[in-house]
Amino acid sequence: MDKFIITGGKKLVGEINISGFKNAILGLIPATLLANDKCIITNVPMISDVYILKDIMSALGAQVILDEINHTIEIDTSTVKECKASYDIAKSLRASYYLLGAGLGRFKKAEVAYPGGCDIGSRPIDLHIKGFEALGSSFKIEHGIIHCVAEKLVGNNIYMDVISVGATINIMLAGAMAEGTTVIENAAKEPHIVDVANFLNAMGADVRGAGTDVIRIKGVERMHGCTYSVIPDQIEAGTYIVAAAATEGDVLIKNVIPKHLESITAKIKELGVEIIEYDDSIRVRGKKDLKSINIKTLPYPGFPTDLQQPLSVLLTKAEGTSIVTESIFEGRFKYVDELKRMGANIKVDGRTAIIRGNTPLSSTQITATDLRAGAACVIAGLMSDGQTEIHDIKHVERGYENIVEKLRGVGADIRKVTE
Ligand code: UD1
Repeated sequence: MDKFIITGGKKLVGEINISGFKNAILGLIPATLLANDKCIITNVPMISDVYILKDIMSALGAQVILDEINHTIEIDTSTVKECKASYDIAKSLRASYYLLGAGLGRFKKAEVAYPGGCDIGSRPIDLHIKGFEALGSSFKIEHGIIHCVAEKLVGNNIYMDVISVGATINIMLAGAMAEGTTVIENAAKEPHIVDVANFLNAMGADVRGAGTDVIRIKGVERMHGCTYSVIPDQIEAGTYIVAAAATEGDVLIKNVIPKHLESITAKIKELGVEIIEYDDSIRVRGKKDLKSINIKTLPYPGFPTDLQQPLSVLLTKAEGTSIVTESIFEGRFKYVDELKRMGANIKVDGRTAIIRGNTPLSSTQITATDLRAGAACVIAGLMSDGQTEIHDIKHVERGYENIVEKLRGVGADIRKVTE
């Protein structure tokens, strides 16, 4: 089992380049099924989720070439004859549910194992299924496999009673080649919804309104290959912004879209940290004295649940008491027990965490319970007074490209040890 060893207390100083957005590429790769042709995607983050998805696409019969040096993936899906993903290949990746929408769109039939992924609370897919059914698909689960079949898909009006990123993308995928127009109301507005919509349009689809809460998808008969570049990872950027602030460092975060980071930079400024925005980069100049703040996670453009854990670690340093409310995933406070072992004073009551500040973190052995909890553990290690060991780092490597190299590049004392 691999672990990170971090000696805390070093200020991060320098520049960090942000990779392509994990959550976007996880939608784009399955979407290539719709092309029945070759797609080339650039700015691909080299993270374990991408390697898993590459293997899933190969297992489906696609010709896939992943060029790690140039951060490019070439996928030819013309050799795929059906969309069947067994438990063995789909279990470790929640985003394998996008194969349902893409498979339905292309073949009008998909059989995909019930998705796995981060354990951050109950993660139903009822809204995805409701959307597929509204387009004319049947649905059943047998032996852990979700079966969706349609004689034909016909566009419909779909109102989402809960805002869901995954369901919005999946319905766009299924609707892209349906007959007529599909309208998604109360759609999610996250940057990667727009990225997937742009990718679909580059493949010949007709998707309008992505980024607003009403998306209109006019079905087309066929789609084709394209070349496309993934947007920068707002969550990776947010994580490094927090890390810079947590170490009172001075870091230029490069290759970002500052607009996508407004909810996080607003909170970081409220803490008292200096943020300077440029066209495609953000400079973070940490400060010693931080004020306590309150956070509530919300769908975009609200504060992202994926940054709740990293930012909460920083709040252990602030003056006074901060209140963090998690409104998206109820299981996202598991990392708190790890922080308490480092001396943090945090009380969790249901979906709320009350964080008493001014509690220096003392180093010990901690465990990453999921991807973003792992990022929070890394930040805790960087802030701690000695040598912190972080176990179960496979979670971190699912979503952060070269995290050790990126942090070492700005002066962190972090190394990966394989036991
Ligand atoms: C995506 C992101 C994840 C992020 C989350 C919320 C990807 C690959 N992952 O996850 O990083 O934390 O958005 O921004 O993009 N829900 C239902 N029924 C459904 C689907 C969702 O009730 O069918 C609920 C969920 O339990 C949750 C809320 O809707 O409370 C939001 O979930 P959703 O936006 O679907 O998250 P994911 O797409 O899984």
